[in-house]
Amino acid sequence: MNPIITEIKKLKQEKNAVILAHCYQNVEIDEVADFVGDSLYLSQMAAKTDADIIVFAGVYFMAQTAKILNLDKKVLLPRLESGCLMADMINLQQLKEFKSKHPNIPTVCYINSTAEVKTECDICCTSSNALKIVKSLNSEKVLFLPDTYLGKWVESQLDNTEVITYPGYCPTHLRIKPEDILAAKEKYPNAKILAHPECHKEVVKLADYVGSTTGIMKYAIESNEKQFIISTEKGVVDRLKRDYPQKEFILIKDNIICPNMKWHTLDDIYNALKKEEHEINVDKEIAQKAIKCIDRMLEVSK
Ligand code: 13P
Ligand code: SF4
Repeated sequence: MNPIITEIKKLKQEKNAVILAHCYQNVEIDEVADFVGDSLYLSQMAAKTDADIIVFAGVYFMAQTAKILNLDKKVLLPRLESGCLMADMINLQQLKEFKSKHPNIPTVCYINSTAEVKTECDICCTSSNALKIVKSLNSEKVLFLPDTYLGKWVESQLDNTEVITYPGYCPTHLRIKPEDILAAKEKYPNAKILAHPECHKEVVKLADYVGSTTGIMKYAIESNEKQFIISTEKGVVDRLKRDYPQKEFILIKDNIICPNMKWHTLDDIYNALKKEEHEINVDKEIAQKAIKCIDRMLEVSK
């Protein structure tokens, strides 16, 4: 076994720490992670943990959400460079302008947003529960931010709700073009196409299944089919290939990699635990306001 893995496990025990890893992370991180999954699962685990330290192998907004849920605990992000480009596409001022153009409409924020933005939203969602969350509002109109593609996918699944979206997007998922899907369908006519709802609407239309990272993995694992084209980040394909060698998983395109998800290495995780860095802090007043929309999401998702 890689000695760094043994050292990380020792430190975890000594310090009563837990490691949460998103399924876009470098796959070797799973060796030390206590929980691996999508944003919803990881926020549910963060809300439940009784560890003293949470090491988040994910992007900044995920660690920030874990901190909001655990103000009394230390939350560490091994590499501070791990931001989310989509989350940074809207700030509080831009949100206020968006809301003032569409007054008195409930506002849903994707968890891929900053703590400040969360303070001004009614409810949060992730890609796995976005539809359920929007439905729970029982409103003819809903504001959705920052991801226009996730918001419009939700709208396409509903009969009587207009989802007014902010023009944010994920640069990694938008690299997948409808013509990539059409070419894959021609090359692998029997394969099932599984896509993340952050993809372009024309991509999502061509998919056999649309869901979160965990949703995609679950569909592929439970399906009787043997061949799958995966239209999301490479980490999902790496894990499926490792765990289900009897099936075939094809990443839609080689470059579907979120660079910010790939910063953390085992060495960084070791250093983070050893030196207890880099600690993520959230202003108490902001956290108290932001937690409302996160708690509301967790309640609806039970
Ligand atoms: P999940 O909700 O599937 O974890 O997606 C998070 C994300 O950032 C996808 O780009
Ligand atoms: Fe953000 Fe896109 Fe990376 Fe997800 S894949 S963390 S949405 S930049």
